[in-house]
Amino acid sequence: MNNDRLNADDPGQDTSTVAEPPRRGIKSYVLRAGRMTAAQQRGLDEVWPQLGLKLEDGLLDLDAVFGRRAPRVVEIGFGMGASLIEQAETHPDTDFIGIEVHAPGVGKLLDEVDKRGLTNLRVYRDDALEVLTRCLPEASLDGLQLFFPDPWPKKKHHKRRIVQPAFVELVRTRLKPGGTLHMATDWEAYAEHMAEVMAEAPGFRNTSSEGPYVPRPEFRPLTKFEHRGARLGHGVWDLIYRRSE
Ligand SMILES: C[S@@+](CC[C@H](N)C(=O)[O-])C[C@H]1O[C@@H](n2cnc3c(N)ncnc32)[C@H](O)[C@@H]1O
Repeated sequence: MNNDRLNADDPGQDTSTVAEPPRRGIKSYVLRAGRMTAAQQRGLDEVWPQLGLKLEDGLLDLDAVFGRRAPRVVEIGFGMGASLIEQAETHPDTDFIGIEVHAPGVGKLLDEVDKRGLTNLRVYRDDALEVLTRCLPEASLDGLQLFFPDPWPKKKHHKRRIVQPAFVELVRTRLKPGGTLHMATDWEAYAEHMAEVMAEAPGFRNTSSEGPYVPRPEFRPLTKFEHRGARLGHGVWDLIYRRSE
């Protein structure tokens, strides 16, 4: 974990572990018992029944879930959800699905969705690998976002990085042809790893013609961390690949 990124709101403060949701393949997260604020608890208790999606309900009919046909974007590991909320609010014509295992983050997101009256955002509190495999139809997504995934910096932990050949192939099958996988990281070695995995991944084309990275697109909101990081001279790397096959 890049500790520079942690703040009082970040999932990652509390180190005690709790029961795990089911998963297959790699385990890219450590589930921590977090203190729940009243607003986060309200999100889980009162908003989850309307807007929460469940693994056990299986394959989604996205038009039925949102009651319309619209561009669809999934964000994996939204943390406390600030970026996802901002995108949903500024892109009312796009439907968003957030996937996060960390309960306080899910509660916070749901509380905000309700307070802002957003209708274009739904959420899973499950392992994204399970959700992609069991719930999201093939060729159903216009975009999949992975912003600041845990970098797992120690070599012995690299196998826990979510960006692996099997993961990106799973993502490819859930994207529509022409749909995009957008990753961002503040950990240079993870950015290089992402670029290496994607260079070998069949069926994707890099949207950048000049090396693996692109400038931050406007639709990815600047995080609190990035504001601070920019002042301290820290880098952030964005990578966007389009499904070509
Ligand atoms: C370093 S945090 C970044 C959070 C947020 N994207 C941000 O930029 O602040 C990574 C997040 O990914 C979540 N995560 C990691 N693996 C996941 C998985 N397989 N499924 C769902 N969430 C996952 C973690 O719980 C954590 O909240």
